[in-house]
Amino acid sequence: MRKKIVAGNWKMNKNLQEGLALAQELDAALKGKQVNCGVVIGTPFIHLASVANAIDTEKIGVAAQNCADKASGAYTGEVSAEMVASTGAKYVILGHSERRAYYHETAGILKEKVLLALENNLTPIFCIGEVLEEREANRHFDVVKSQVTASLFDLSKEDFSRIVLAYEPVWAIGTGKTATAAQAQEMHAFIRNTLSEKYGEEVVENTSILYGGSCNASNAKELFSNPDVDGGLIGGASLGVDKFMPIIEAF
Ligand code: PGA
Repeated sequence: MRKKIVAGNWKMNKNLQEGLALAQELDAALKGKQVNCGVVIGTPFIHLASVANAIDTEKIGVAAQNCADKASGAYTGEVSAEMVASTGAKYVILGHSERRAYYHETAGILKEKVLLALENNLTPIFCIGEVLEEREANRHFDVVKSQVTASLFDLSKEDFSRIVLAYEPVWAIGTGKTATAAQAQEMHAFIRNTLSEKYGEEVVENTSILYGGSCNASNAKELFSNPDVDGGLIGGASLGVDKFMPIIEAF
């Protein structure tokens, strides 16, 4: 059985004190509660160590939202996968569309980041997804397939089995527009097929594929009820426990 995961992506929100308070509030809300999915929060880099120290990381996995494509050295301002791992974080979100679009992260750069994350025992949450024009031109399947193959398909079967994927149609991110449950299922099934051709049924049956893009308390249940949707990557609705908890409880 593959793992169900609800992961928050705080993006560039919350200063250290606010972030710490949010993490602790979530930790308290989950205490003693039986939930049916893994919970992850993706915080800014500078929050990672404090957050990981302040919460039960067996219950809430901590994720960085990025890491460097180099192991170490003279790369001013960068944060390596090893540094992320040393904070107690267990995950790293890689290839988010905002990183691809605003910081020009190419498939080649992302391939390096994935390798470094795995070397440092971080679980990559690898994001893929098409922009609106690509969907309108009926190119969404090709785009997503090439994002997956270009950055991940040199991985060994063993390494690949440590990846979590997140399908995030760019037109649905932060727009309030969600893919319909049918659109999400269609793409997730397509991704699973694509992966299966390369890595085989068994590995792929165990690969979690999350949906992201305006996922919230009112649509989570319907999205998560699809057989190939294993959870969500949640932006806006992860910034408050009142909005995030119902998504966790949708499982
Ligand atoms: P959103 O963001 O939930 O605010 O649409 C999702 C994401 O970008 O991961």
